[in-house]
Amino acid sequence: MPAFFGANRFKFGMFGINCSGGMTPSIAPDRWKAEWSEIAAVAKMADAAGVEFLLPIAKWHGLGGKADMWGRSFETFSQAAALGAITKHIGVFVTAHVSLLTPAFAAKGIASVDHISNGRAGLNIVCGWNPDEFGPHGVRLTGERRYDRGLEWFKIYDRLLEGGPEFDHKGEFFEVWGASTDPLPVQKPRPPVMSAAQSGEGQMFAAQAADILFTGAHSHAQVRDTLANIRRAGAGFGRRQDVYVETQFVVRPTRREAEEYAHHYAVEMADPDAIDYFRRQKSVTISALTKAGGTESDRAVVATLAGEIKRPYPGMFPAMQPVVGTPDEAVAELQKLSEIGVAGSTLVFLNYLKELPYFVQEVLPRMERAGLRQPFRPAE
Ligand SMILES: Cc1cc2nc3c(=O)[nH]c(=O)nc-3n(C[C@H](O)[C@H](O)[C@H](O)COP(=O)(O)O)c2cc1C
Repeated sequence: MPAFFGANRFKFGMFGINCSGGMTPSIAPDRWKAEWSEIAAVAKMADAAGVEFLLPIAKWHGLGGKADMWGRSFETFSQAAALGAITKHIGVFVTAHVSLLTPAFAAKGIASVDHISNGRAGLNIVCGWNPDEFGPHGVRLTGERRYDRGLEWFKIYDRLLEGGPEFDHKGEFFEVWGASTDPLPVQKPRPPVMSAAQSGEGQMFAAQAADILFTGAHSHAQVRDTLANIRRAGAGFGRRQDVYVETQFVVRPTRREAEEYAHHYAVEMADPDAIDYFRRQKSVTISALTKAGGTESDRAVVATLAGEIKRPYPGMFPAMQPVVGTPDEAVAELQKLSEIGVAGSTLVFLNYLKELPYFVQEVLPRMERAGLRQPFRPAE
């Protein structure tokens, strides 16, 4: 495991602070506005608390509805460079769409962020799902074979980061010539690679290209199945991936307060049109293999898109596990995920700036007592 993530048994990635709405399809007045000063403040707070990394969402189009979640978003390479410069310890991921960025662009971008942050960069590779995001770039996205394309993209990217003389590559999806890059990253052999995906195809891609699979958490059974698949597939390629899942927290001193707040923003103030749009758009690019439903995760995606899953909090994202309750209850849930074999999860709140302090104050020390985390003692 890369030193980048440290020794905690259960790790956290702050997810979605670069986008309006964060990860919450809600019209609640406290929803995340993605103001730069607030993004910077959250990054510094997470850094000081020992949160392992910041994970942005790469977005080029909002979800519509009343709040147009994600309608505003900061570009992830420039954001990671800026946040790397104002923090000291936390990992700074960039998120790259393989259909929009060339491997040479991503290699130079990640090396730049790695130098600026003194070895804290990470690359999240995403193969995309919403055709509306690619129109402004003049690119047509299809669901079939996107991971084959991604794998070829990764191989060129990886070779660039090995250094060495210029090379040519002629493959099925890419032809490049005279490829080389300088500077190379600080981290060797390269900054960690994450694949954020849910389908069985996404899992196979991660098994070949990634150090981390970041995936949905529809149920414990699905998470167990995903872990078993990625362990098997990774071993076939002589690799092992850490698995992270999506969690959203509403933590309050009493269970009642937590439930009331979750009900307020994720039921009464849910923005269902945003999720309807998400489901429609993702359905356009769902692949034949995902539809065939070879994995629990495939089946969960298909059922979600068909609207067959009744979710207690329609104002939270599908595949996001709600963790609603007291600090002790939150730790008990994280303990369960850890026992299943999950390496960590997302820190998502309706309003990161307002809710992170309580989480840091009340949940992190309990996790230390439960053996899930250690007190944060940054190396100078
Ligand atoms: C945790 C997580 C984070 C993701 N982040 C992004 C993102 O930032 N931008 C994006 O376009 N897609 C993102 N995706 C979606 C991926 O692009 C993926 O291609 C899409 O989910 C379709 O493939 P799948 O069916 O394998 O999941 C994310 C998916 C997951 C599970």
